[in-house]
Amino acid sequence: MRTQVGIVGSGPAGLLLSQLLHLQGIEAVILERRSRHYVEGRIRAGVLEQGTVDVLSEAGVGERMRCEGLVHEGIQLSVHGRLHRVDFKALVGGAVTVYGQTEVTKDLINARLAADGQIAFEAEDVTIHGFDGDQPRIRFRQDGRRRELACDFIAGCDGFHGVCRQSVPQAALTIHERVYPFAWLGMLVEAPPVSDELIYAYHERGFALFSMRSPARSRLYIQCTPDEDLDAWPDQRIWDELRARLGGETADALPTGPSIEKSFAPMRSFVAEPMRFGRLFLAGDAAHIVPPTGAKGLNLAVADVRVLARGLAAFYTSGRTDLLESYSATCLRRVWKAQRFSWWMTSMLHRFPGRNPYDDRVQLAELDYLVSSRAAQQALAENYVGLPFEAEE
Ligand code: APR
Ligand code: PHB
Repeated sequence: MRTQVGIVGSGPAGLLLSQLLHLQGIEAVILERRSRHYVEGRIRAGVLEQGTVDVLSEAGVGERMRCEGLVHEGIQLSVHGRLHRVDFKALVGGAVTVYGQTEVTKDLINARLAADGQIAFEAEDVTIHGFDGDQPRIRFRQDGRRRELACDFIAGCDGFHGVCRQSVPQAALTIHERVYPFAWLGMLVEAPPVSDELIYAYHERGFALFSMRSPARSRLYIQCTPDEDLDAWPDQRIWDELRARLGGETADALPTGPSIEKSFAPMRSFVAEPMRFGRLFLAGDAAHIVPPTGAKGLNLAVADVRVLARGLAAFYTSGRTDLLESYSATCLRRVWKAQRFSWWMTSMLHRFPGRNPYDDRVQLAELDYLVSSRAAQQALAENYVGLPFEAEE
């Protein structure tokens, strides 16, 4: 088996890359460990920057997103139960689109399969070889048979726990990491949103986030300790906690409904540098993780893949290698700014158990400054709607 670009992982990064390459006439094969059903059922975040919306539209997968996505021109910050609106439109002239990553994934899989794109689901024991030379190969097992895919380049789009980053010699990568002393408990519910916009809440009991997927479905999150047991969190306890943390009128008005899914998300900041090793390119969660507070995970994956697709297109159309050589540096400039923003949002909105009370007072001052300063809100808005893409040339 041979292709031009071998892609490991069919999350949003791998799928979008194969779609963008297809539009440039470049062949790719995706190897995915899980089944299609599993990949399409995974519940993840749901806020798309305008730049992400544009890339998905240009990739030809924007139709349903434009119909069903909810355009939000601001967010609400709730501090001790009082709401403060951050008006993206007035502050920076921008907006975000609320559209589940699950839906993005489904749209991409449909588009790839409709164009006869090759996705090998349930590919087991994927290993990558020869990427430090010019004959990369990917070995895997499918239906019990051993197979090998020869390619010009390998794209490691296999998420944080994938095999690609771990195959790079340790000495060639620098890892930067921060683990937070809390997690999020998320619950997807069949209940209409209490508010037209997302509510990010700071409260002494801990952070809470009210989000949504559609006019009939809400997505709720509360800060909890990292090692909790789902059995200890029946729906009623989550509703009660959410109500306590949102407080005020929001708590009184909160519509409830049956839960569809519940899960924990650990909170971590992580960057592996560089994002390229020879003919292996890491993209998305394989190279970096942000805590979800800034809603940047999916958006960063899309930004990486956009840069990589352009670099590969320049290589195949005119033999240029400069964009591939600058891939890591170009991506990392955006990655580190998203790291900073996600760390800042996380630090400002969560309770940090057992730390120096001085730091808690500084945090309250930060929140007080934000809700009373247009300049501070403008900085939040500029980052939340998405920093501009850099020109690569
Ligand atoms: N072999 C093959 N596939 C693998 C392997 C492996 N060894 N390890 C992981 N995978 C697959 C996973 O099953 C998954 O489908 O790689 C895919 C990685 O997808 P994601 O984790 O979704 O990562 P990415 O595409 O970078 O998406 C960016 O944005 O909202 C955030 O973290 C969230 O997933 C999201 C991310
Ligand atoms: C979500 O809707 O799942 C969501 C929204 C905003 C975030 C994180 C998650 O910051």
